[in-house]
Amino acid sequence: MNRQTDDLLKAELERLTQMNAGYLGYPLARDFSFDALAPFLNLQINNVGDPFTPSSLTIDTKEREIEVLHFFSKMLRASIENTWGYVTNGGSEGNLYGLYLAREAYPNGMVYYSESTHYSVKKNLHLLNIPNIVIRSLDNGEIDYRDLDRTVKLRRHRPAIFFMNVGTTMTEAIDQLDKIKAIITKYALKDYYIHVDGALAGIMAPFYKEKPKFDFQDGIDSISISGHKFIGSPIPCGIVLCKKEHSDRIAKSISYVKTKDTTITGSRNGLSPLIIWYALKKLGVSGLRQRYESSKELAEYTLTQLTLIGYDAWKNKNAITIVLKKPSDLICKKYQLAVQDDIAHIICMPGIEKSQIDALIDDLKETVFEKPPLVEDFNAMMVEF
Ligand SMILES: Cc1ncc(COP(=O)(O)O)c(C=O)c1O
Repeated sequence: MNRQTDDLLKAELERLTQMNAGYLGYPLARDFSFDALAPFLNLQINNVGDPFTPSSLTIDTKEREIEVLHFFSKMLRASIENTWGYVTNGGSEGNLYGLYLAREAYPNGMVYYSESTHYSVKKNLHLLNIPNIVIRSLDNGEIDYRDLDRTVKLRRHRPAIFFMNVGTTMTEAIDQLDKIKAIITKYALKDYYIHVDGALAGIMAPFYKEKPKFDFQDGIDSISISGHKFIGSPIPCGIVLCKKEHSDRIAKSISYVKTKDTTITGSRNGLSPLIIWYALKKLGVSGLRQRYESSKELAEYTLTQLTLIGYDAWKNKNAITIVLKKPSDLICKKYQLAVQDDIAHIICMPGIEKSQIDALIDDLKETVFEKPPLVEDFNAMMVEF
């Protein structure tokens, strides 16, 4: 029995190691070693309740969690005193939390979000029972501001909750805060809430040459970012940050654990704050910036190669995601490409090698029958939004 367990464990490790080396379609960085954290697997760690309130159960990593939150607060230009947050189980939980705070601020609010929004948001809205309207998307995945304008106009008497994407799942599109704010001003909305879903791009966008507006100084109320995507935590996790006035509205004190019940779950993973903290400490801001630059370079290389073989592909400006015509099922399976309808995408995450892109291009080359374009035509074919 024991032998069988050991064999199965070994086989699982081998399978996962092989699968880890191969995916090109999912936003999970795999360039960083977390070996140093292995001893923590043999310990009970539990960050129960509020990260800023010590619990009677002190087997936690809350001090590290607070450092992580301060790091993101700084990056997202939030005031440390007026900002609250916690390390979540992933981007979806952070979005659920942001929408929960929005509902508590405006129980009569209407949520507006684009059709390119991650599938989990619809479910979260259902769980929270918040009225909501899906807005059309532009071709590049951004929200259609005209449709948003028309839809808000008809409901200007209601508080508005804007669910804004900073990096949509399929095309890594960024909704423009200025255009959303222009609608707020146009209809003189006094009661509104802006939540940002920055699952992947929330940590990369501060490094763009022209930084998009999406942080606390730009006027948002809350943001969710995943920890297993760009940072590369081997365990799904994330962070949520919000203005403190919103979390104060929902805080309740719990005598059983002597901490505040501000988080979605009670017991919380204490390993993931440590994982994020370790990566942030080791990489620092310059390491994160460098990783983004390398990913962007690889994305540009990938798009060039696809264009040169005449394969239908494009990408949003600054994005590390390349959108392409859906390849054959065999190729999608081989490279673990994410597919939606007739498109697929490649995400050039840290850890992906140029040679893997070249191998994919070689496979795709065989499926292209049209004459490849001339090299000079390449620039004209780049789709930049
Ligand atoms: C834009 C966006 N939001 C939210 C999520 C959900 O994040 P998580 O998988 O961390 O729960 C994803 C995941 O791919 C995403 O792409």
